[in-house]
This record gives sequence, structure tokens and C-alpha cells, in this order.
Amino acid sequence: MKTSTVLAGVLSVGAVSSLHAFTVPAGTARLAGPAAALYKPRREGVSLRHSEKFTSRPIVLPSVRRTQSKSTLRMGLGSGMLTAAASFLHVQPAVLLAGLVAVVVAFIAKFLIDKPSRTFTEAGVGGTVGNEYDAWTEEGLLEYYWGEHIHLGYYDQSDLDAITNPLKSGKVFKDTKFKFIEEMYKWSGAEVNSGGAPPKILDVGCGIGGTSRYLANKLKDQGTQVTGITLSPKQVERATELAAERGLNNVEFKVMDALKMDFADNSFDLVWGCESGEHMPDKKAYVEEMTRVLKPGGTLVIATWCQRELAKGEEFSSDEQRKLQFLYDEWAHPYFISIEEYQRLCSGTGKLQAVSGANWVKETIAAWRHSIWVGVWDPWIVIWKGFTTRSGPRIWWKTIREIVTLERMHRAFDCGLMTYGMVKARKTA
Ligand SMILES: C[S@@+](CC[C@H](N)C(=O)[O-])C[C@H]1O[C@@H](n2cnc3c(N)ncnc32)[C@H](O)[C@@H]1O
Repeated sequence: MKTSTVLAGVLSVGAVSSLHAFTVPAGTARLAGPAAALYKPRREGVSLRHSEKFTSRPIVLPSVRRTQSKSTLRMGLGSGMLTAAASFLHVQPAVLLAGLVAVVVAFIAKFLIDKPSRTFTEAGVGGTVGNEYDAWTEEGLLEYYWGEHIHLGYYDQSDLDAITNPLKSGKVFKDTKFKFIEEMYKWSGAEVNSGGAPPKILDVGCGIGGTSRYLANKLKDQGTQVTGITLSPKQVERATELAAERGLNNVEFKVMDALKMDFADNSFDLVWGCESGEHMPDKKAYVEEMTRVLKPGGTLVIATWCQRELAKGEEFSSDEQRKLQFLYDEWAHPYFISIEEYQRLCSGTGKLQAVSGANWVKETIAAWRHSIWVGVWDPWIVIWKGFTTRSGPRIWWKTIREIVTLERMHRAFDCGLMTYGMVKARKTA
């Protein structure tokens, strides 16, 4: 017999018994014979006469029994309605019940996902951003899937073709990030501005140091020194470990707040900020600090997620505001600004010239869904960690949240609400 038929049978029995219960006044039940013998009422301070103990006369049940009777009544009514609705819709009650459960679960999941879980609350070293990156670094999933770079990739047609190919997808996902660094380096014009490889580079918000090590390795023969800073001590640890593994001694990493850097004025030939600006609670201070530590004639280059520029007097619609708020809150972003606003901030320092901006959304947007695909082709580490690590199945829920956020990011970039900001400038000599 099919399970659904059995369930329907059970539900019908429930409905019939609920009708029976309906005929008995709430709180009162008639017990007789053996059933009455099993039930021994206890009322403090009241001694029952022998004849009352075993009798076929009605016995008033204590409150727990009354509650059961009410809930049985409700359940019975519920299952009766379910059976009626199922027959009205010409489906098995079990199918209808499964559908209802699925809808309720979907509503609960949506409610929980829409509630931000990693909101930016505290700036600086020891604040929200550093703690979140510490957690991501320790967990290891980000490094497993994204490799050493925590930023979007730069895609050409052959990369786009590889996304849905399970044999190539994972490797291409990581390769596009190296390609992004190459393109950003070329676009910055740093070599033209410095007349060769920039001797000193600062990587502001270096993650686990993928870019710092890449540039250190690429330019080591020209004597370039690279410094990476981040708010996350765990990232510094991992970045340093990987540099040692590669035998790189022209790169170092420090825990430091980009908004209050320890470096002297005019220290670096290239100041590089790749996808760190979105975490900054003060974008003006971010641009000004990077400009301060830049040598005259040196290059500033920023890659960052931006929101669209509003026309004069325009405001975001409530739908746009809701979407942006989710994107701010989910990955510890205080807020975003537009590419144009970044350019205005650069010009506003009074120390930068040749300020220009670009939107690389076409080159990078594929990365959002590609990062979902790499998980689809290779989900085993997530499944495994759910069984073997301290976080347990919570890691599965976290992964679902990441997938939803990645998709919402894709949509926000796709519809133009978000833009991929590239900004460059040169410090006035
Ligand atoms: C999305 S990751 C980018 C990583 C890196 N640029 C890369 O290419 O892989 C953002 C980084 O910015 C850093 N960050 C955010 N706010 C910062 C701040 N105020 N000072 C220093 N680093 C910061 C984070 O700690 C993290 O390492």
C-alpha cells in the first residue's frame, strides 16, 4: 500500500475520532470498566469514597486531560479540513500535506535568509570585518573554492564557456582571478607612472595575500617590495605561511587598519585597493589615507563594488533600498558608494591628478554565478565538513546563505543597481 494512502487513512481516522470527541463536552469524559480502573484520580485534600473510585459514573478529568481533549479536537478538525481540501483539489491528502509543509518551510527559510547574519557593527582592528575574515580563513572553504584571491575574476569568452564544464570550471574560476590582477595592474598605468616596476607596493585589504604574492613574484627581479595589510590576524598568518612556502622574501603582511595606517607619508609607489573599499565605514578617509602614504608621482588604483550613481534629487526606490540593505548587511559592509563618488573623493583630496573611473561589470559579473557552479561540481568538502567539524550542519545552512547572497549579488549587478568600480589616479608630483 502506498504511504500516501496510509497517511490519508490515518488522517481520516483522525477526522472520525475528532467528530467523536466533538460529542463529548470539553473537560468531561465517561470512563467505565477496565478503563476506569486504569485511571486513578488524585485530588489533594479530597478523599474519594470507594464507590467513586471504580464506577461507571462520569468522572471529571484533571486539566491535562482537558487540554488533550481540546488539542485532539483541534487536530481532528485540522485533519478533517485537510481531507476535505484534498478531495476538493483532487489530490491525496498526503500530497496536499507535503505541499503545505514545503510552503511553510520555504517561508521560514526565506524569513531566516532575509534576516542579515553578518552585519557591520564595529570598525577597525578587532571589529566585525576582521572577525568575519578570521572565521572565513579558519573555516577554509573560501580558500578551497576561491584559491588565494578573494575578489571577482576577469572573464573572456573561453572562460565563460568553461563555467558549466565540470572538468574545467574549478580551475578556470581561480585562473580568472589571476587574469583580473594582470588587467588591473595594466589598467593602473603604474609602470608608466613609475618608469618601470614600482619599487614599493602597498596592498590595502590584502586578504590571504594572493595579489601581494603575485606582484611580489612577478616583480621580484626588479627589486619590488610588497606590503599587504588586513584587519584579520588569521589572514596575516595564512598569507605569511603561503609566502614562506613559495620562498618569497620581498613580501610582508601586517594587521593594520587602512583608515589609520602606521606608514609615513609618501611611502609607496603603488597603492592598490582591491575589493576592500566596500568594507570601509569612511570612504573619504580610505581615499585620503591611501593618498597620504602614496609618493608624489605614484599610482593609486582601486577596484570595488559600487552602487549606481543617483541623479540629482533622485532616491533609491524602496525595492532598491531593500536589496542594497541585504547586500550591505550580509557580508559586513557598512554601505557602498558610486564610482563617480569615488572619483569625486579622489579629486577632493587636492593631491591626485588624472583621476578616472570605469565600470568592469561586463568583465566580472560571471564570477558570481561561477562561484555557485564550482560548488555544484564539487560539493563534497561542504558535506564532509558538516559531519566532521565543530560547526556541524550549521556549515550547510551558512553555505545556503552564501549561495543566495551570490545570486542576489549577480542580480543586483545585472540590473545595474550595482556596478564594478575601477578608479585610478596619480599623486601630483
Ligand atoms: C574581499 S577581501 C579582498 C582581498 C584581497 N584584496 C584579494 O585580492 O584577495 C577584503 C579585505 O579587505 C580587508 N579590510 C577591510 N576593511 C579593512 C580596513 N579597514 N583595514 C584594512 N583591511 C581591511 C579585509 O580584512 C579583507 O582582507
